[in-house]
Amino acid sequence: MENKKIVVAIDGFSSCGKSTMAKELAAKVGYTYIDTGAMYRAVSLYAIQNGLMDATTINESALQSKIATIKVDFRPNKKGGSDVYLNDENVESKIRTLEVSNGASRVSTLRFVREHLVAMQQAMGAAKGVVMDGRDIGTVVFPNAELKIFLTASAEVRAERRYKELLQKGENTTFEAVLANVKERDERDTNRKESPLRKADDAVLLDNSTLSPEEQREWLYRVFSDTIAK
Ligand code: DC
Repeated sequence: MENKKIVVAIDGFSSCGKSTMAKELAAKVGYTYIDTGAMYRAVSLYAIQNGLMDATTINESALQSKIATIKVDFRPNKKGGSDVYLNDENVESKIRTLEVSNGASRVSTLRFVREHLVAMQQAMGAAKGVVMDGRDIGTVVFPNAELKIFLTASAEVRAERRYKELLQKGENTTFEAVLANVKERDERDTNRKESPLRKADDAVLLDNSTLSPEEQREWLYRVFSDTIAK
């Protein structure tokens, strides 16, 4: 059916290339791409900016009392993609720092944060025609998504990719430090009590350790087309 719209859920470990994959598919098939990691990052930024989180502690009760006032949405940018807004401020460039990343991983363990963001994500995808990436999209946000993909790659391959990216950005780090950070985030994402990262039973598993971006693109488009044709 030509106009059939579905929900595509892409979950997996960090630094697997989920967002690149999701963004490309959305652009190709005319769907909306929703980066749910950016939403956790926006809450992390909010907590940091408002003095509710530092390197070691989160003021959970204060954050909880504010959670209903934290609005996160996406708006089109000039590059044909979208930027994330926190309470009407474009925070796209502020949410990719190491401090905000680490904070996102921490605030994402809090149930009230997850409930608030999951409700927003469900509203964003209610009309379908979305490609959403994250950790719990196929298990919690859209358990009935028509297409679920679980992406993985070895920790070493992911650390290598991330290390190269950081070097290009001029960051001074070592491969060992990046690998340790990848493993630490895997550990936290898979072992947290609230919505831990796991493959949904009906998700298609893709290990992209040895795939080229082109092979991965072709694979995804084929799986998408097969699902639409069903
Ligand atoms: O995908 P990312 O690195 O931008 O995600 C940032 C953090 O948010 C990461 O530690 C995992 C968490 N996250 C989550 O718990 N659930 C999601 N649906 C998306 C991200």
